[in-house]
Amino acid sequence: MSTPTPQLPPLKLFINGEWVDARSGATLSTVNPATGQPIAQVASADAQDVDLAVRSARAAFEKGPWAKAPPMARSRVLTRIADMIEARGEELAALESLDNGKPVSAARMADIPSAANVFRYMAGWATRMEGEQLPLAGRPQGQFLAYTQRDPMGVVGQIVPWNFPLLMAAWKVAPALAFGCASILKPAEQTPLTAAALVAIAHEAGVPPGQLNLIQGLGHSSGAAIVAHPDVDKIAFTGSTEVGKMIVRSGSDTLKRISLELGGKSPVIVMGDADLDAAVKGAAHAIFFNQGQVCTAGSRLYVHESIYDKFVERLVAVASALKIGPGLDPDTQIGPLVSDEQLRRVAGYVDIGRKEGAGVAVGGEAVGGAGYFYRPTILTDVRQSMRVVQEEIFGPVLVATRFKEVDEVVAHANNSIYGLAASIWTRDVSRAHAVARAVQAGTVWINCHHVMDAAMPFGGYKESGWGREMGSAALEMYTEPKTVCIQL
Ligand code: NAI
Ligand code: MG
Repeated sequence: MSTPTPQLPPLKLFINGEWVDARSGATLSTVNPATGQPIAQVASADAQDVDLAVRSARAAFEKGPWAKAPPMARSRVLTRIADMIEARGEELAALESLDNGKPVSAARMADIPSAANVFRYMAGWATRMEGEQLPLAGRPQGQFLAYTQRDPMGVVGQIVPWNFPLLMAAWKVAPALAFGCASILKPAEQTPLTAAALVAIAHEAGVPPGQLNLIQGLGHSSGAAIVAHPDVDKIAFTGSTEVGKMIVRSGSDTLKRISLELGGKSPVIVMGDADLDAAVKGAAHAIFFNQGQVCTAGSRLYVHESIYDKFVERLVAVASALKIGPGLDPDTQIGPLVSDEQLRRVAGYVDIGRKEGAGVAVGGEAVGGAGYFYRPTILTDVRQSMRVVQEEIFGPVLVATRFKEVDEVVAHANNSIYGLAASIWTRDVSRAHAVARAVQAGTVWINCHHVMDAAMPFGGYKESGWGREMGSAALEMYTEPKTVCIQL
């Protein structure tokens, strides 16, 4: 059984409610990672297109109906977007698989329903932009009335990566729209298609012109132009730590609000008393889901010495049995990496690991032939100072280490510039809580991994980023608090 070739969305920029070419006429090619062949040419913006998008967003924000509308009107549109994503789920899943390479089964189960859920959840926040009434501390009561209110942050630039193209666009766009901001969304150049489909859906659902603009194009031109634009109030970015730091430098000129969701090297800690079946399955999912191209990938495995050999043996068996193939094949469990560049980066890291003295328990090579396929890989005999243990690989490559003491494994877990996520596998509830407290990570999972939900704030410690998205944290992301004080 094969999945039908999906319908392509508009391949242009979306500015002020219209699909337009880049002013320069430039285009970029988006490639099918399963074959290496181009899918389509997409408009490629530069600074002049970005300027038009920012002007349109500013006008919509200041003069348009969206931010002033009854919040329930915004809720209704966001709910409609959620319904439309669900109704077109099969089509969107196929499109995501075609563009990114991911297994269509994963897109169906994870990316698409999660994107719909984010809109459905954020629809509720539109009516919860609440402030507080403040009894003044140093004044006689009754002389002043003071309160806080929340204003939408304004024009927001939202730059997203290629690993979960639709879902990351939803994470950005849904809360911005809920709180009345006007958005300029820029998907990654590797995966432009589902963001375009989302923007088309939002337009059809009733988001007014200018409120949500789409800029397609390269990071160093169109992305950098969004960050540098003086009339953009906030940048929300998900991507590499390297580009996150560049955004901070560039955005500091205008003191933009900046939120960053960056890299990770998340530890998976398996205690000696863990449910072995669940932990083996969980550790495999933690690293191999989405070909390891996940910011929260469980890329460092720490297993108690009492079960280490057995555990690694079983994990190797799981890794060898995963079915590698084109994402659009419904039986595929491991699709290609997103690009030739990513394939070379991942292969390069495994070579570095070998030179550093790591053993290869399974995988360690590209599949070969057309497409960017890399085998699920487990590296053993690693030292914590090795680059493969310290640096984000962003591919299906796990490094495994044995440990003896809890303190020792906590120290290993925290020996990282990153602090995005961690998982702990144990039957001992007290120990689970103690380790969760000690690990420096924005999200800690116990007996699970990669469980994301629109209600759970998400973001990183240390160089994994700034700020939290989702849940009540969305309010901090897209609104400015204002204090009002009235002399009575
Ligand atoms: P990247 O950080 O370059 O790309 C992410 C987004 O940023 C894309 O939309 C890109 O066009 C944009 N961008 C790039 N340069 C920019 C600039 N100067 N100004 C504004 N926007 C810019 O990530 P890339 O190069 O695709 O992947 C490199 C590595 O980054 C991966 O191997 C992985 O380690 C990490 N990464 C982490 C992600 C995460 O979810 N935290 C997602 C994607 C990549
Ligand atoms: Mg880059």
